[in-house]
Amino acid sequence: IRTQVGILGAGPAGLLLAHLLQKAGIDSVVIDGKSRDEIEGTVKAGIVESPAARVLAESGVSDRIYREGAKHDGIEFHVDGNAHRFDFQDLVQKSVYLYPQHEVLTDLIAARIRDGVPPLFGHLAESVQDAETTRPRIVGTTTEGEAFEISADVVVGADGSGSIARIPVCGSQRNGHYREYPFAWYGVLAEAPPSSDELIYSRSEQGFVLISTRDKNVQRMYFQCDPLLDASTVSDAEIWDTLQAGVSGTTLKQGPIIRKDVLRFRSFVAHELRKGRVFLMGDAAHTVPPTGAKGMNLAFSDVLWLNQALRSFFATGSEALMDAYPENALQRIWKAQHFSYWMTSMLHIAPDATEFDKLRSLGELASVTGSRSAQAYLAENYVGLDYGVGD
Ligand code: DHB
Repeated sequence: IRTQVGILGAGPAGLLLAHLLQKAGIDSVVIDGKSRDEIEGTVKAGIVESPAARVLAESGVSDRIYREGAKHDGIEFHVDGNAHRFDFQDLVQKSVYLYPQHEVLTDLIAARIRDGVPPLFGHLAESVQDAETTRPRIVGTTTEGEAFEISADVVVGADGSGSIARIPVCGSQRNGHYREYPFAWYGVLAEAPPSSDELIYSRSEQGFVLISTRDKNVQRMYFQCDPLLDASTVSDAEIWDTLQAGVSGTTLKQGPIIRKDVLRFRSFVAHELRKGRVFLMGDAAHTVPPTGAKGMNLAFSDVLWLNQALRSFFATGSEALMDAYPENALQRIWKAQHFSYWMTSMLHIAPDATEFDKLRSLGELASVTGSRSAQAYLAENYVGLDYGVGD
């Protein structure tokens, strides 16, 4: 297969890039080793920032997020049972949308199909070759066992946290700045009515609990756990007890638990985002811990910068904006790394936390909830910083 841009990964980043490039008349091929059902069925976060929602609607992917997504004008922090609301509309005049990531994916895949260029599912990339030539190649095998090769002017690795495109770009998959955390989230989907109109981020002696939602029948909730915990060993009764103990002031509405998983935490930024004609974006370039739901929203920033760079390259032959891509993208990447790290460290209690650590973090939470400017800082980052580049 010959194309202008070969994109590894049919996640939100790869599909959005393909959509934006096509609007400028640039051809691309998006491949993914997984099947469409597997990709659409993966449970991911549910919060879409205000600028990300705008990109999806205004670039013509879909405005379903505005019609069917639930607008959230604030969130609550519960600290040892005391509730504090961050009123986003009052603080920064913006909102976020509760619109699960698999719905974003469904919209993006539908847009590719509508435009006559569906992603190639079941195409597993094994390596990216010739990064430093003008004809990089993606080499792989289909689910049916057939070898394939995509030859392109530019290859983009949007292939997630296990990215193989990182190997030619960084020299190895692990070559980056990273930080591990001594806790994880136990996540559930429960068939129950919502227990709260807005998301609750709770911190108590038991640790962290997050009450989120999917729709009026299905709720998404998380509690802090050991990263090595086996999800299948926790009973439904223990799950409800832990969640309820973490949000003492709110009575949780219970129902059958239909999904249990453990989410590991990690902060990661690859040492390089580009080598020759191969670029990294989204989780292939960086990973954030889940608190604050920045993953996909941050990936869209990379997409917009790379879209601008590739449009300029294909229109004029100039590599100036391709050269500038890492520096441009990294500015927002490190801001989001900080925000995700900050939300995580402020709301969780590390297993080895001393009395000083716990009291200091209560002081931090009191500083944030007690100051309008600190609240506005949190709100501004939560609803999403402007991307600083158009689509
Ligand atoms: C969800 C996940 C998050 O990490 C978060 O901060 C908020 C909501 C979710 O899955 O709904």
